[in-house]
Parts: sequence; structure tokens; C-alpha cells
Amino acid sequence: MGVDNRITDSELAEVEEAISAALESDDHSGLTILGYGEVSVAVGWPHGSPTWACKRMPPFTNQEAFDAYLALVTDYIATLTAAGVNVLDTEVRQLPGPNGSRIGYLVQPALEPSQLGPDVLRSADPTIGHPIIEAIIEAVMACTDGRTGIDAQVTNWAWIDGRAVNLDVNTPFMYDEAGHPVLDIDMFIGALPWAVRATQRKAGPKIIARWAKPRWALTDMAMNLHKDHLEEWIPLVVRAANSRLDDPIIESDLEAAYAKEAKLWVKLHRLKRIDRWWQRTIRRRRYQFLVPETTDYA
Ligand SMILES: Nc1ncnc2c1ncn2[C@@H]1O[C@H](COP(=O)(O)OP(=O)(O)O)[C@@H](O)[C@H]1O
Ligand SMILES: [Mg+2]
Repeated sequence: MGVDNRITDSELAEVEEAISAALESDDHSGLTILGYGEVSVAVGWPHGSPTWACKRMPPFTNQEAFDAYLALVTDYIATLTAAGVNVLDTEVRQLPGPNGSRIGYLVQPALEPSQLGPDVLRSADPTIGHPIIEAIIEAVMACTDGRTGIDAQVTNWAWIDGRAVNLDVNTPFMYDEAGHPVLDIDMFIGALPWAVRATQRKAGPKIIARWAKPRWALTDMAMNLHKDHLEEWIPLVVRAANSRLDDPIIESDLEAAYAKEAKLWVKLHRLKRIDRWWQRTIRRRRYQFLVPETTDYA
């Protein structure tokens, strides 16, 4: 899984330039998009035949803020690895931004679509199963200890050499003794119009805290199969999850639970597009997040 060669600073500056152009024009066609996630976008580089997946994080106000994020991601990867969870090689990099700000990137080897969880399941038979399911569930059980959580959605996993490998460490699920997320959620709330930031800032920690519990992580994994049109895998995933949980997931509850969750993501997507319009048209400044035209949750 090792990558000996790292992306150079000048290549990363080229990525930043291409993303900047896309942020200014709203035209993503100059980018090799490997995937839109809930909070970030994986951009393949070099364009057209990618070696790396580059995920641009929201700008950090200063070096200190970047350093805190770097430390958190590093700690998260070390914690997951110590628990026996495989994490894709991930490097946290930075570029200078305006006024002392730092632009952070998570850089990973670019994987083939066929290695990613959704495609792996799409090419397997849901009546027979696939070992990636057991492996993801095993990873969840191994690391969710109240202080650590993990996003078990199949979109966050790859199947590499017979092992499930997590590729989404952008928002580290680490909690303090009181169960509060260590991550500074303001970083991501900046994508939303200021009028809703206060409510989201209040709701955020509670939302993120849910992933500390294996039952929620596995419920989320099962119900989001609706989003990726992999519904036929739900019974098998629920059965596998329930063999490890004391408090079983009720399969018939998942559709309503997904509908509720999807509503929230659709709303956030709409709010981002409104804020983007506001920032550009009224404030005449750049909106810092690549927002897809549509969301898979719609
Ligand atoms: N290293 C990678 N190689 C190829 N595709 C990737 C890679 N990392 C992420 N992706 C794709 O991009 C999507 C979003 O990335 P992810 O890290 O999950 O961001 P988010 O935190 O926003 O969910 C993934 O679901 C996957 O489809
Ligand atoms: Mg993800």
C-alpha cells in the first residue's frame, strides 16, 4: 500500500491553481473529480490520469489552526491503525494562503473506481455477500470505544489486496472525556450562510457524537446503501451487523431513518449554494468550497 513518491510542492500548487479556477468559474470540467463526499471533494492529479487524490480542506485562518488539524488527523490515523483498522496512506499538506492563512490538503494515492466500496458491491452478488462487509463491521467494532468513531459508509472504504481500507479521515471522529468532538467544526460550518451557522454550530457536536457508538456507525452504513442505490445489500449488512450488536438494528426502521438524514444533507447542500451566490454576488469574494450541482441524497 506504500507510496514512495510524494506529490511535490509545485505539483500541489498546480492542483490549487486548478481548484481555484474551478471555484471562480463554477466549472469543474478542468478537474478530474474522483468523488464528491459529504464535506470534501477528491480531485485526481495529474488531470486525466491521476496518481494522487487531493482533498482541499477549508482554509485555515493561521498556522496554529492548520497545525491543530494536522495533529488531530495524525492522532486519528494512529489510533485507527493501533486498533487494527487499515487506513489509506494519507499525507496532510499545506500551502500558503492570503493574509497568513494556510490551505490544507489531504493527499492519498488515487484508487481505481473498481477498488471503491460501492463498485465492489455492485460487481458482487448481494445474496452471496462480499468479505468487505464483514471487514468494515470488524473495523467498526475494533475502534469505536467512546473516544474514537468511524464513518462506516461503503463510500469511505476500498478493497485492496483482500483488506478493507478506510479512505476518509478528513473529519476525525475523536472525542474528549465528556464525549465532545475534538474537531473544530467551525472549519466546516464556514461553508454555510452565517444566518444558520449558530444553529449548526450548536447541533454539530451532537450529530458527530453519534459515530462514537458502533450501533449508529453500522446503522448509518446500512441506511446509506439507499443513497448509493445498493438497497439490495441492506438485509445482508443488517444481519452481519446484528451478529455483533447487543441492541440490534431494525431493518424496517432504516428507510425512515435514511429519509430524515437525507433531508438534512439536501438542506445543507441548498444552503451552501445559497451562500456561494451571496459571497460571490453581494460580497464579491470567493466561495471556498467545491459544491456539486446535485447531491446523491436528493
Ligand atoms: N484516494 C482516493 N482515490 C479515489 N477516490 C477517492 C479517494 N478518496 C476519496 N475518493 C472518492 O471521493 C469521495 C469523497 O471522499 P471522502 O474522503 O470520503 O470525503 P468526505 O469526507 O467528504 O466524505 C469518496 O467517497 C470516494 O468516492
Ligand atoms: Mg466520505
